[in-house]
Amino acid sequence: MSERTFNFSTGRTNPATFPVEAVQAAAHAAIAREYAEITEYPGKLGHPGLRAAMAKRESEREGVPVDPELMSLMNGSMQAVTLVAEALTQPGDTVICEELTYVGTITAYDTLGINMVGLPVDEDGMQVELLEAKLAELGEARKPKFIYALTTYQNPTGTSMSTARRKRLLELAQAHDIPVVEDNCYGDVHYDGEKPPALFALSDYDKIIYICSLSKILAPGVRIGYLTAQQPMFDRILARRLDAGGNTFAAAVCAELYKDDVWDLTESLNEPLKVKKNLVVHGLEAEISDLCAWSNPAGGLFVWVRFPDDVDQDKLMELTAARGFTYAPGANFHIHHEQVPYLRLAFGHVPDEDIRDGIPILAQCIREARTSNEAKSFNGLFD
Ligand SMILES: Cc1ncc(COP(=O)(O)O)c(C=O)c1O
Repeated sequence: MSERTFNFSTGRTNPATFPVEAVQAAAHAAIAREYAEITEYPGKLGHPGLRAAMAKRESEREGVPVDPELMSLMNGSMQAVTLVAEALTQPGDTVICEELTYVGTITAYDTLGINMVGLPVDEDGMQVELLEAKLAELGEARKPKFIYALTTYQNPTGTSMSTARRKRLLELAQAHDIPVVEDNCYGDVHYDGEKPPALFALSDYDKIIYICSLSKILAPGVRIGYLTAQQPMFDRILARRLDAGGNTFAAAVCAELYKDDVWDLTESLNEPLKVKKNLVVHGLEAEISDLCAWSNPAGGLFVWVRFPDDVDQDKLMELTAARGFTYAPGANFHIHHEQVPYLRLAFGHVPDEDIRDGIPILAQCIREARTSNEAKSFNGLFD
């Protein structure tokens, strides 16, 4: 067993850049000012100061007004993902999503007895071109209760849905009166180019439910996420909320931390993440471009790697584990847990030297786990 470990398995932020002093100062100020509010139950919407800061975040990113009174703070975006499903579905109901999606959502929907119907993903995100035919195939009897989409820096593939597809998705959803749930928790983990628009900035369709979080721009342990929607959808979802509200203490600290804006801190944390992403991509390029293809995402915390079909996946897991290297196998993200010739590398928390030293280990293990010597049979990541 290897002494050294290379942990690429879970999507986390970077402990080395957590803004310790800024958070300490924010906590100090928030407690002094808001100790009395912390003795109260927060209610369904939660801390007004943090809602105002997050509405400003959304509005500044998207260039459209966002009403903090139509925002509810959640225990991470995961509570919002689950709550929406609880409010809008019964066991046996159908939901459309990407065929490869966030494992937490798959587990939540499985647990709620939801029948997930997947659309494949390519370089431009969910293949919305297939949606109309899929809706026709499902018919009225299995009409989806909503469409769940990871529009930007999709987990696990790192891809973003093109604007044309976003618009088409909204057109179809509106025409068929199907709510759309946009989970945008990676939207501000942004490295290059223009930020893609959120769905609510592209349409006034009143059944868009938007979910975001501080987990990926600050830390998952703060457990602050939020949900916005128009009425009556907003109240319909919150009617299912039975937890007396989110954590006022954490919200007060985050409101203080972000009282001017979220951008300076977020951008300063994104810079070292971009370095890590480039180390992964360049490492793969140097080590295994003859056999694999991978994403080079403009944001998010993951690189998605396609390896040859002849790789024995159990063997790959054994070989990597013996050398201290961990990753998330593609099957974890398939809505029906099917084995796919992919793996996901989560790089956000991995020290730079572990990326430099780890990627050659992964490349070597992929070579050793092959059962043939055939040449690469695919060109692109989604071939
Ligand atoms: C797409 C997606 N949604 C939601 C979550 C849950 O995040 P949190 O509850 O920490 O905001 C994650 C976490 O990895 C995710 O990848």
